[in-house]
Amino acid sequence: MDTKKNLRSSSQSILLSPKKKDNSAVNLGLKNDKRLLKLENFMRKMNYKGCALLEILHKAQEIYGYINKNVLAYIAEAIELPASHVFGVATFYSYFKQQQPGKHVITACLGTACYVKGVEEIICAIEKNFSVKRGGSSDDGKLSLFITRCIGACAIGPAIIIDDDIIGNVTEDLVLEKITSILEREKIETC
Ligand code: FES
Repeated sequence: MDTKKNLRSSSQSILLSPKKKDNSAVNLGLKNDKRLLKLENFMRKMNYKGCALLEILHKAQEIYGYINKNVLAYIAEAIELPASHVFGVATFYSYFKQQQPGKHVITACLGTACYVKGVEEIICAIEKNFSVKRGGSSDDGKLSLFITRCIGACAIGPAIIIDDDIIGNVTEDLVLEKITSILEREKIETC
């Protein structure tokens, strides 16, 4: 086994890939993050192979809920791929999130079928009414708005996913009402 993939951990700290200082766990602010140990174990299982990049990104997202630039840089170093390639793959697939998502996630399909059926206007209405930009989260962290391409529901487009529910034939009024009711319900529950 490649010795530079040496893994050392203690109950207090996780130090990985000690030979490469630039993107070390310490320098990337990942020290003491035990989730990194899980990710490292998975990469080791994959033999640190570059061809396993997608599986590794999936695992990272499963562990963290999103994959920030530090984790991407760490993965790039561990599997010896250019950081630009790893960043490129992670940003190409809308499934991979680069920032912590809000409590509720709206994913709008901007594939061709949904686009021609007017999803762009619906996305704009969500942005305007809930002060959230596509690809980002609202200031209070309650809502995130992501864009994806074709979720396989073209026949019922325009389609939007609110949390885990796919809503087809969605209209601006319907989606605004649904989001408002989710946020209102939450307000009541936290009172
Ligand atoms: S293009 Fe939106 S579901 Fe296919």
